[in-house]
Amino acid sequence: MAIILGLESSCDDTAAALVDTDRQILSQAVVGQADRHSPYGGVVPEIAARAHVEILPDLVRQVLEDAEMEIGDIDAIAATAGPGLVGGVMVGLLTGKGLALAAGKPLIAVNHLEGHALSPRLADPSLDFPYLLLLASGGHCQLLEVRGVGDYRRLATTIDDAAGEAFDKAAKQLGLGYPGGPAVEKLAAEGCPTAVPLPRPMIGSGEPHFSFAGLKSAVQRAVASGQFEPEDVAASFQQAVIDCFVDRTRIAIEQADVKSLVVAGGVAANQGVRRSLEKLAGQHGLAFSVPPGWLCTDNAAMIAWAGVERFASGEFAGDPLDTPARARW
Ligand code: KG4
Ligand code: ZN
Repeated sequence: MAIILGLESSCDDTAAALVDTDRQILSQAVVGQADRHSPYGGVVPEIAARAHVEILPDLVRQVLEDAEMEIGDIDAIAATAGPGLVGGVMVGLLTGKGLALAAGKPLIAVNHLEGHALSPRLADPSLDFPYLLLLASGGHCQLLEVRGVGDYRRLATTIDDAAGEAFDKAAKQLGLGYPGGPAVEKLAAEGCPTAVPLPRPMIGSGEPHFSFAGLKSAVQRAVASGQFEPEDVAASFQQAVIDCFVDRTRIAIEQADVKSLVVAGGVAANQGVRRSLEKLAGQHGLAFSVPPGWLCTDNAAMIAWAGVERFASGEFAGDPLDTPARARW
């Protein structure tokens, strides 16, 4: 059994976690920075990087203390090395490198998207490769055939905005502040999903790609028209995103050779998204898996778990200490 320390700092959540190879989360902590960014209506990279510097060392101390461990008890240190806001990524990766060097432990430089992609296997031990993954976060919207650790086939991506970005922009239009996803979901619960006519971009296209920019503009026009109640706009917007997810994922199911459908990333915390994709999986005889909400949004347990998976996948001795922080990966 090995214990991995995970560090996450690629966007506006600072997080640390200890996870072992038996899927036990020994301790974890996430500090969101929404209050620091909400006055600006979105994440300010410079503020995020400075906040990670302030918060991360204490979180590392806290997770070690909560698990009654010292850094010497840890077998490896997994840190997000990208993609993300590069200032923040540097803070987490450099912290990981410093700890690895000081404690004489291997460093595992984790791709944040791989963290999301493998996170369902932390929560669901029965989930085997290969599976079809809808990865919908603030920065990405992709359909991936996950064949194994480090073995991914991308079937689709967004040609403009990410799904979470669309939620955040719709929230801004509705005056709901940042982050938008949870606020839109809450307001949508009180509205009618068919009240506002909104487009379903890409539906009918033979390739399973996504597009959300047109939907964003349509929400903007609906709000500006003053004809609709905010809760109806929220509900109709959410339904449009769900309809796109279901239609696009259906095409991908036909193209992929998998037994399970999995949803991950921040937008997978949305109950309507979860229910609709579960139904789609059932219609195609696929098993369905979605991590609990806290594991969908950014956290360090998924980074530690990606470290576990890579550690366990062969003769992995660790990544070099000069591994760069990457904005794009
Ligand atoms: O995965 P994540 O925490 O960070 C990134 O890697 O981007 O995803 C954050 C995104 C944000 O855009 C947020 O608005 C969205 O996920 N989100 C949601 C919900 N919770 C978070 N979108 C819809 N419904 C939610 N309940
Ligand atoms: Zn993320």
